[in-house]
Amino acid sequence: MSAATVRTWKQVEARVREQRDYAEGFRWLELDVPGDFRVPVAGQFVQLLLDSPSPVLLPRPMSVAGVTQRGSRLSIGLLYAPVGAGTRVLAQLAPGAVVRVTGPLGQGYPLDEAGTPVLVAGGRGLAPLLMAAEALAKKKRACEFVFGARTKGLLIGLNVAREALARRGSRLHLATDDGSRGLKGNVIDVLDKIAPKLGAPIVIHACGPHAMLAAVARWAMANGARAHLAMESVMACGTGVCRGCPLPRSAEARDRVLATGDDASALQGNPEWAMCCTDGPVFESRELDWDRVE
Ligand SMILES: Cc1cc2nc3c(=O)[nH]c(=O)nc-3n(C[C@H](O)[C@H](O)[C@H](O)COP(=O)(O)OP(=O)(O)OC[C@H]3O[C@@H](n4cnc5c(N)ncnc54)[C@H](O)[C@@H]3O)c2cc1C
Ligand code: FES
Repeated sequence: MSAATVRTWKQVEARVREQRDYAEGFRWLELDVPGDFRVPVAGQFVQLLLDSPSPVLLPRPMSVAGVTQRGSRLSIGLLYAPVGAGTRVLAQLAPGAVVRVTGPLGQGYPLDEAGTPVLVAGGRGLAPLLMAAEALAKKKRACEFVFGARTKGLLIGLNVAREALARRGSRLHLATDDGSRGLKGNVIDVLDKIAPKLGAPIVIHACGPHAMLAAVARWAMANGARAHLAMESVMACGTGVCRGCPLPRSAEARDRVLATGDDASALQGNPEWAMCCTDGPVFESRELDWDRVE
Protein backbone atom coordinates (compact mmCIF):
# COMPACT_ATOMS: atom_id res chain seq x y z
CA MET A 1 0.00 0.00 0.00
CA SER A 2 1.38 3.42 -0.91
CA ALA A 3 1.92 6.05 1.79
CA ALA A 4 -0.77 8.14 0.14
CA THR A 5 -3.46 5.57 0.94
CA VAL A 6 -2.62 5.15 4.63
CA ARG A 7 -4.98 7.32 6.61
CA THR A 8 -3.05 9.08 9.34
CA TRP A 9 -5.38 12.01 9.89
CA LYS A 10 -8.49 12.68 11.89
CA GLN A 11 -10.85 15.60 12.29
CA VAL A 12 -10.87 17.04 15.80
CA GLU A 13 -12.10 20.06 17.73
CA ALA A 14 -9.13 22.19 18.69
CA ARG A 15 -9.05 25.17 21.03
CA VAL A 16 -7.02 28.31 20.58
CA ARG A 17 -4.30 28.29 23.22
CA GLU A 18 -2.49 31.42 22.09
CA GLN A 19 -2.71 33.95 19.28
CA ARG A 20 -0.15 36.74 18.93
CA ASP A 21 1.67 39.00 16.52
CA TYR A 22 4.83 37.43 15.13
CA ALA A 23 6.49 39.86 12.73
CA GLU A 24 5.72 41.91 9.64
CA GLY A 25 1.95 41.36 9.83
CA PHE A 26 2.28 37.62 10.49
CA ARG A 27 0.47 35.90 13.35
CA TRP A 28 1.39 32.93 15.51
CA LEU A 29 -1.56 30.68 16.37
CA GLU A 30 -1.23 27.83 18.82
CA LEU A 31 -4.01 25.23 19.02
CA ASP A 32 -4.55 22.57 21.66
CA VAL A 33 -5.54 19.32 19.97
CA PRO A 34 -6.68 16.09 21.66
CA GLY A 35 -3.86 13.83 22.86
CA ASP A 36 -4.69 11.12 20.33
CA PHE A 37 -4.04 13.49 17.40
CA ARG A 38 -1.03 12.06 15.57
CA VAL A 39 2.10 14.18 16.13
CA PRO A 40 2.77 16.03 12.85
CA VAL A 41 6.20 15.96 11.25
CA ALA A 42 7.83 18.95 9.56
CA GLY A 43 6.32 19.57 6.13
CA GLN A 44 2.89 18.18 6.99
CA PHE A 45 -0.13 20.46 7.17
CA VAL A 46 -3.58 20.73 8.70
CA GLN A 47 -6.88 21.98 7.33
CA LEU A 48 -8.64 24.57 9.51
CA LEU A 49 -12.42 24.71 9.27
CA LEU A 50 -13.94 27.79 10.84
CA ASP A 51 -17.13 27.50 12.86
CA SER A 52 -20.34 28.72 11.26
CA PRO A 53 -21.19 31.49 10.56
CA SER A 54 -18.02 31.80 8.51
CA PRO A 55 -17.37 33.86 5.38
CA VAL A 56 -15.65 30.90 3.71
CA LEU A 57 -16.96 27.48 2.76
CA LEU A 58 -13.74 25.53 2.49
CA PRO A 59 -11.18 24.79 5.17
CA ARG A 60 -7.85 26.64 4.91
CA PRO A 61 -4.58 24.63 4.71
CA MET A 62 -1.68 25.64 6.99
CA SER A 63 1.76 24.08 7.41
CA VAL A 64 2.51 22.94 10.91
CA ALA A 65 5.22 25.27 12.21
CA GLY A 66 5.70 23.84 15.69
CA VAL A 67 4.62 21.02 17.94
CA THR A 68 4.64 21.13 21.76
CA GLN A 69 3.96 18.08 23.90
CA ARG A 70 3.09 18.65 27.56
CA GLY A 71 2.63 15.21 29.09
CA SER A 72 -0.21 13.61 27.14
CA ARG A 73 -1.32 17.01 25.76
CA LEU A 74 -0.39 18.25 22.34
CA SER A 75 -0.47 21.68 20.76
CA ILE A 76 0.41 22.73 17.24
CA GLY A 77 1.74 26.10 16.17
CA LEU A 78 0.89 27.82 12.88
CA LEU A 79 2.46 30.89 11.31
CA TYR A 80 0.15 32.71 8.95
CA ALA A 81 -0.65 36.02 7.35
CA PRO A 82 -4.20 37.38 7.42
CA VAL A 83 -4.45 37.88 3.64
CA GLY A 84 -8.12 37.14 2.89
CA ALA A 85 -11.55 36.34 4.26
CA GLY A 86 -10.64 33.06 6.02
CA THR A 87 -7.36 34.07 7.59
CA ARG A 88 -8.77 37.44 8.73
CA VAL A 89 -11.43 35.56 10.72
CA LEU A 90 -8.72 33.26 12.06
CA ALA A 91 -6.80 36.30 13.28
CA GLN A 92 -9.76 37.34 15.46
CA LEU A 93 -10.04 34.05 17.37
CA ALA A 94 -9.36 34.50 21.08
CA PRO A 95 -7.97 31.89 23.47
CA GLY A 96 -10.59 29.19 24.07
CA ALA A 97 -12.25 29.56 20.63
CA VAL A 98 -12.96 26.32 18.77
CA VAL A 99 -11.55 25.46 15.33
CA ARG A 100 -12.10 22.17 13.56
CA VAL A 101 -8.75 20.73 12.54
CA THR A 102 -8.15 17.91 10.09
CA GLY A 103 -4.69 16.41 10.10
CA PRO A 104 -1.90 15.81 10.09
CA LEU A 105 -2.09 15.69 6.29
CA GLY A 106 0.32 14.95 3.47
CA GLN A 107 3.91 13.81 3.23
CA GLY A 108 6.51 15.65 5.32
CA TYR A 109 10.22 16.12 4.69
CA PRO A 110 12.24 12.86 4.58
CA LEU A 111 14.71 14.08 7.19
CA ASP A 112 16.37 10.68 7.57
CA GLU A 113 17.78 10.81 4.06
CA ALA A 114 21.56 10.41 4.15
CA GLY A 115 23.66 13.41 3.16
CA THR A 116 24.33 16.99 4.22
CA PRO A 117 21.02 18.63 5.06
CA VAL A 118 20.60 22.11 3.59
CA LEU A 119 17.36 23.86 4.54
CA VAL A 120 16.23 26.66 2.20
CA ALA A 121 13.51 29.09 3.30
CA GLY A 122 11.89 32.02 1.55
CA GLY A 123 9.52 34.41 3.36
CA ARG A 124 7.09 32.57 5.62
CA GLY A 125 8.70 29.29 4.54
CA LEU A 126 10.89 29.70 7.61
CA ALA A 127 8.49 28.14 10.13
CA PRO A 128 8.21 24.50 8.95
CA LEU A 129 11.95 24.50 8.30
CA LEU A 130 12.79 25.60 11.84
CA MET A 131 10.70 22.63 12.90
CA ALA A 132 12.76 20.47 10.52
CA ALA A 133 16.01 21.88 11.96
CA GLU A 134 14.79 20.95 15.43
CA ALA A 135 13.93 17.41 14.32
CA LEU A 136 17.42 17.05 12.78
CA ALA A 137 19.03 18.40 15.98
CA LYS A 138 17.21 15.74 18.03
CA LYS A 139 19.05 13.21 15.86
CA LYS A 140 22.31 15.07 16.50
CA ARG A 141 22.46 16.41 12.96
CA ALA A 142 23.31 20.06 12.29
CA CYS A 143 22.26 21.73 9.04
CA GLU A 144 23.10 24.61 6.75
CA PHE A 145 20.12 26.97 6.82
CA VAL A 146 19.65 29.34 3.87
CA PHE A 147 17.11 32.12 4.35
CA GLY A 148 16.27 34.57 1.58
CA ALA A 149 13.88 37.45 0.89
CA ARG A 150 13.56 40.51 -1.31
CA THR A 151 14.65 42.82 1.52
CA LYS A 152 15.63 42.51 5.20
CA GLY A 153 12.14 43.42 6.52
CA LEU A 154 10.77 40.32 4.76
CA LEU A 155 13.10 37.91 6.54
CA ILE A 156 10.10 36.96 8.70
CA GLY A 157 11.21 35.63 12.08
CA LEU A 158 14.94 36.21 11.56
CA ASN A 159 15.71 36.70 15.26
CA VAL A 160 13.89 33.49 16.22
CA ALA A 161 15.83 31.64 13.51
CA ARG A 162 19.19 33.05 14.54
CA GLU A 163 18.74 32.00 18.16
CA ALA A 164 17.22 28.59 17.44
CA LEU A 165 19.86 27.61 14.88
CA ALA A 166 22.80 28.78 17.01
CA ARG A 167 21.49 26.60 19.88
CA ARG A 168 21.47 23.60 17.53
CA GLY A 169 24.94 24.15 16.09
CA SER A 170 23.57 24.92 12.62
CA ARG A 171 24.76 27.70 10.33
CA LEU A 172 22.47 30.47 9.05
CA HIS A 173 23.17 31.98 5.60
CA LEU A 174 21.17 35.08 4.64
CA ALA A 175 20.45 36.58 1.23
CA THR A 176 18.42 39.61 0.17
CA ASP A 177 17.81 40.80 -3.39
CA ASP A 178 18.69 44.37 -2.40
CA GLY A 179 21.67 43.44 -0.23
CA SER A 180 20.12 44.99 2.91
CA ARG A 181 21.04 41.85 4.93
CA GLY A 182 23.42 38.99 4.13
CA LEU A 183 24.57 38.21 0.61
CA LYS A 184 23.23 40.49 -2.13
CA GLY A 185 21.40 37.98 -4.28
CA ASN A 186 19.07 35.07 -3.82
CA VAL A 187 19.12 31.62 -2.25
CA ILE A 188 20.60 30.13 -5.42
CA ASP A 189 23.60 32.45 -5.11
CA VAL A 190 24.04 31.18 -1.55
CA LEU A 191 23.80 27.54 -2.70
CA ASP A 192 26.45 28.21 -5.36
CA LYS A 193 28.69 29.70 -2.69
CA ILE A 194 28.36 27.07 0.05
CA ALA A 195 27.90 23.85 -1.95
CA PRO A 196 31.60 23.29 -2.84
CA LYS A 197 32.44 23.23 0.90
CA LEU A 198 29.74 20.69 1.83
CA GLY A 199 29.97 16.93 1.92
CA ALA A 200 28.14 15.11 -0.88
CA PRO A 201 25.37 14.27 -1.33
CA ILE A 202 23.58 17.50 -0.54
CA VAL A 203 19.95 16.99 0.49
CA ILE A 204 17.84 20.13 0.35
CA HIS A 205 14.56 20.69 2.17
CA ALA A 206 12.86 23.89 1.02
CA CYS A 207 9.74 25.97 1.58
CA GLY A 208 8.79 29.29 0.04
CA PRO A 209 7.21 30.83 -3.06
CA HIS A 210 6.85 28.49 -6.05
CA ALA A 211 9.26 30.53 -8.17
CA MET A 212 11.96 30.05 -5.54
CA LEU A 213 11.18 26.35 -5.22
CA ALA A 214 11.39 25.90 -9.00
CA ALA A 215 14.82 27.56 -9.00
CA VAL A 216 15.99 25.35 -6.12
CA ALA A 217 14.66 22.23 -7.89
CA ARG A 218 16.51 23.13 -11.10
CA TRP A 219 19.70 23.87 -9.14
CA ALA A 220 19.48 20.50 -7.40
CA MET A 221 18.94 18.58 -10.65
CA ALA A 222 21.84 20.40 -12.31
CA ASN A 223 24.18 19.84 -9.36
CA GLY A 224 23.52 16.21 -8.49
CA ALA A 225 21.71 17.10 -5.26
CA ARG A 226 18.34 15.95 -4.04
CA ALA A 227 15.71 18.55 -3.13
CA HIS A 228 12.42 18.18 -1.31
CA LEU A 229 10.12 21.13 -1.96
CA ALA A 230 6.96 22.02 0.02
CA MET A 231 4.36 23.04 -2.54
CA GLU A 232 1.01 24.82 -2.23
CA SER A 233 -2.23 24.63 -4.14
CA VAL A 234 -5.77 25.75 -3.58
CA MET A 235 -7.34 22.88 -1.65
CA ALA A 236 -10.81 21.63 -0.78
CA CYS A 237 -10.75 18.19 0.90
CA GLY A 238 -7.01 17.94 1.72
CA THR A 239 -7.34 14.16 1.65
CA GLY A 240 -7.04 13.15 -2.01
CA VAL A 241 -10.76 12.85 -2.74
CA CYS A 242 -11.82 16.00 -4.61
CA ARG A 243 -8.89 16.04 -7.09
CA GLY A 244 -8.82 19.83 -6.77
CA CYS A 245 -5.13 20.41 -6.05
CA PRO A 246 -3.27 19.07 -9.11
CA LEU A 247 0.42 19.72 -9.79
CA PRO A 248 2.03 18.66 -13.09
CA ARG A 249 4.08 15.48 -12.88
CA SER A 250 7.40 15.19 -14.66
CA ALA A 251 7.53 12.71 -17.57
CA GLU A 252 9.77 10.50 -15.41
CA ALA A 253 7.23 10.42 -12.55
CA ARG A 254 4.30 9.90 -14.93
CA ASP A 255 6.04 6.94 -16.59
CA ARG A 256 6.81 5.40 -13.20
CA VAL A 257 3.20 5.80 -12.10
CA LEU A 258 2.01 4.21 -15.36
CA ALA A 259 4.44 1.31 -15.00
CA THR A 260 3.72 0.59 -11.34
CA GLY A 261 0.09 1.69 -11.03
CA ASP A 262 1.32 3.55 -7.95
CA ASP A 263 -1.24 6.35 -8.06
CA ALA A 264 -3.05 5.87 -4.79
CA SER A 265 -4.37 9.41 -4.50
CA ALA A 266 -6.07 9.22 -7.88
CA LEU A 267 -8.91 6.73 -7.77
CA GLN A 268 -9.59 7.25 -11.46
CA GLY A 269 -6.30 8.99 -11.91
CA ASN A 270 -4.84 10.92 -14.77
CA PRO A 271 -1.14 10.14 -14.22
CA GLU A 272 -0.16 13.53 -15.66
CA TRP A 273 -1.09 15.09 -12.33
CA ALA A 274 -0.01 14.59 -8.75
CA MET A 275 -2.24 15.69 -5.90
CA CYS A 276 -0.57 18.35 -3.75
CA CYS A 277 -2.43 17.24 -0.61
CA THR A 278 -1.60 13.52 -0.61
CA ASP A 279 1.34 12.98 -2.98
CA GLY A 280 2.83 16.13 -1.43
CA PRO A 281 2.89 18.79 -0.26
CA VAL A 282 6.60 17.89 -0.14
CA PHE A 283 7.84 16.66 -3.55
CA GLU A 284 11.32 15.60 -4.64
CA SER A 285 12.54 17.84 -7.49
CA ARG A 286 12.31 15.08 -10.12
CA GLU A 287 8.62 14.42 -9.39
CA LEU A 288 7.25 17.64 -10.94
CA ASP A 289 7.40 19.36 -14.32
CA TRP A 290 8.79 22.73 -13.22
CA ASP A 291 8.05 24.33 -16.61
CA ARG A 292 4.35 23.82 -15.92
CA VAL A 293 4.27 24.62 -12.20
CA GLU A 294 2.48 27.95 -11.62
C1 LIG B 1 -0.13 22.91 2.04
C2 LIG B 1 -0.36 24.38 2.30
C3 LIG B 1 0.25 24.95 3.40
C4 LIG B 1 0.04 26.31 3.67
N1 LIG B 1 0.65 26.84 4.76
C5 LIG B 1 0.46 28.14 5.05
C6 LIG B 1 1.09 28.72 6.19
O1 LIG B 1 1.80 28.05 6.93
N2 LIG B 1 0.86 30.02 6.43
C7 LIG B 1 0.07 30.80 5.62
O2 LIG B 1 -0.08 32.01 5.90
N3 LIG B 1 -0.52 30.29 4.53
C8 LIG B 1 -0.36 28.97 4.24
N4 LIG B 1 -0.96 28.44 3.14
C9 LIG B 1 -1.80 29.29 2.32
C10 LIG B 1 -3.11 29.53 3.03
O3 LIG B 1 -3.89 28.35 3.00
C11 LIG B 1 -3.82 30.67 2.36
O4 LIG B 1 -3.16 31.84 2.80
C12 LIG B 1 -5.22 30.75 2.76
O5 LIG B 1 -5.90 29.70 2.11
C13 LIG B 1 -5.83 32.07 2.39
O6 LIG B 1 -7.15 31.99 2.83
P1 LIG B 1 -8.04 33.28 2.96
O7 LIG B 1 -9.47 32.85 3.06
O8 LIG B 1 -7.55 34.17 4.03
O9 LIG B 1 -7.74 34.03 1.63
P2 LIG B 1 -8.52 33.97 0.25
O10 LIG B 1 -9.58 35.05 0.32
O11 LIG B 1 -8.94 32.60 -0.10
O12 LIG B 1 -7.33 34.43 -0.67
C14 LIG B 1 -6.63 35.64 -0.37
C15 LIG B 1 -5.35 35.67 -1.13
O13 LIG B 1 -4.51 34.57 -0.74
C16 LIG B 1 -4.15 33.83 -1.89
N5 LIG B 1 -4.13 32.40 -1.58
C17 LIG B 1 -5.21 31.63 -1.29
N6 LIG B 1 -4.81 30.35 -1.11
C18 LIG B 1 -3.48 30.34 -1.32
C19 LIG B 1 -2.51 29.31 -1.31
N7 LIG B 1 -2.81 28.05 -1.07
N8 LIG B 1 -1.22 29.64 -1.54
C20 LIG B 1 -0.90 30.92 -1.81
N9 LIG B 1 -1.77 31.92 -1.83
C21 LIG B 1 -3.05 31.65 -1.60
C22 LIG B 1 -5.23 34.11 -2.92
O14 LIG B 1 -4.75 33.94 -4.23
C23 LIG B 1 -5.57 35.56 -2.65
O15 LIG B 1 -4.65 36.41 -3.27
C24 LIG B 1 -0.78 27.10 2.83
C25 LIG B 1 -1.38 26.51 1.72
C26 LIG B 1 -1.18 25.16 1.46
C27 LIG B 1 -1.83 24.54 0.27
S1 FES C 1 -7.54 19.03 -1.91
FE1 FES C 1 -8.91 17.47 -2.54
S2 FES C 1 -7.61 16.15 -3.67
FE2 FES C 1 -6.24 17.59 -2.80
